[in-house]
Amino acid sequence: MELKKRALITGISGQDGSYMADFLVGKGYDVHGLVRWSANNNTSRIAHLLTKNAITIHHGDVNDSARIEAVVATVRPDEIYHFAAQSHVGVSFSQPEYTLQVTGLSTLRLLEAIRKMDSRIKFYQASSSELFGNMPPPQNESTPFRPESPYGVAKVAAHHSTRLYRDAYGIFAVNGILFNHESERRGEEFVTRKITVGLARIKAGLANELVLGNLDARRDWGYAPEYVEAVWRMMHYERPEDFVIATGESHSVQEFLEQAFGQVGLNWRNHVRADPSELRPRDINTLVGDTSKARLLLGWEPRVKFPELVRIMVSSDLKRFGP
Ligand code: NAP
Ligand code: GDD
Repeated sequence: MELKKRALITGISGQDGSYMADFLVGKGYDVHGLVRWSANNNTSRIAHLLTKNAITIHHGDVNDSARIEAVVATVRPDEIYHFAAQSHVGVSFSQPEYTLQVTGLSTLRLLEAIRKMDSRIKFYQASSSELFGNMPPPQNESTPFRPESPYGVAKVAAHHSTRLYRDAYGIFAVNGILFNHESERRGEEFVTRKITVGLARIKAGLANELVLGNLDARRDWGYAPEYVEAVWRMMHYERPEDFVIATGESHSVQEFLEQAFGQVGLNWRNHVRADPSELRPRDINTLVGDTSKARLLLGWEPRVKFPELVRIMVSSDLKRFGP
C-alpha cells in the first residue's frame, strides 16, 4: 500500500493556505499546517477542516527558526508550501523591517531547515508579481525585477533564496510568481474584498460610503482556488522551475467598482470617496501576466475571468450582510 503524502502548509489560516489545504485533503494528503498562536480564533477559513479532523495544526511563528526546525522535524513532510507572510503591500511601507523579517527571511529559515534535515523535502515559495514593479507589461519569467515596495523587496530576497538553494543544494524548490488572486476568502484589507464588503454594507444600510485610494491602478486578478491547483502542478513538474500564474487580463480598480456596484444596480460614484490617506508612497500601475510557460508545461489555464470573479465575491458578501 502506498503511504499517504504529507504536506506542511505555512499560512494555512490565510486565503491561499486554506484553499491549498482543501485541495490537498481532496487529493488524500496528510495535511499539517503552521498557525501562529493567538488568544483569539484565527482559523475561521479552515474551521470546516478542523471540525472534521481533516488537518493537523502546529503552533509557531515563521520568525522563530528553532520552532520552524522543530515543526519540520516533527512533521517530516514530503512537501512544504510556504504561504505565511505579512502580505499587505501598503502595510509594508509603515512596517518595512517587520515585513522583511516575516516575508523575506522566513523563506531562508525554512530552506535552511530543509538543507540541514532532509534535502529531499520539496519546497514551494509564494513569490509575487510585486517583484516586477513597473516593468512594462506583459510580465513573464524573464522580466527583470524592480520592486516598488518593502514587501516587493522582501519577496525578491525570498525568490532568490529559493533559486539559490535549488542551484546550490539540489533542493526541489520552486517559485510560483502569482499575480493577484482573489476570492470570497480574501482578506478584507485588499482592494477587491474591501470593495465587495463595503458594497454589501452599503446595500444593507450599515455604511454610507467606501474610502479608497488609487482607482487607476490596473491588476491581473484571478480566482484563488484555481491558483492553488497551479501551485500543486508546479510542485509535481518533472524539474523544479519557476512559473508565472495569471489570467493575462488587467482591469483597473475603477473597473472593479463599476462591475461590482453595477451588479446590484448602484452607481459607485455616489458611494466611493477617494482619499489621499489610502495612497502609497509608490504604486504599481499595470500588472499583466504572460502565462505561456505554465500553459505549455503545466497544462494550466485560468477559467474564472473578471466579471465572474466579481460576481462570486459580490454575491458571497451580499449573503453575509443581507437580510
Ligand atoms: P494572507 O491571506 O494574508 O495569509 C497570510 C498567512 O500568513 C496567514 O495565515 C497569516 O496568519 C500567516 N502569517 C503571517 N505572519 C505570520 C507569522 N509571523 N508566523 C506564522 N504565520 C504568519 O495571504 P494570501 O493572500 O493567502 O497569500 C499567501 C501568500 O502568497 C503570501 O506569502 C503572499 O505574500 C503571497 N502572494 C499572494 C498573492 C495574492 O494575490 N493573494 C499574490 C502573490 C503572492 P494569521 O491568520 O495569523 O494572520
Ligand atoms: N488595499 C487597498 N486598499 N488597495 C487600494 C485601495 C484601498 O483602499 N484603494 C486603491 N487601492 C489600490 C492599491 O494602491 C493597489 O494599486 C491596488 O489597489 C491593489 O491593492 P491590493 O488589493 O492591496 O493588492 P496589491 O496588488 O497591492 O498586492 C496583492 O497582490 C500582490 C501580487 O501582485 C497582495 O495580495 C500581495 O500579497 C501580492 O503579492
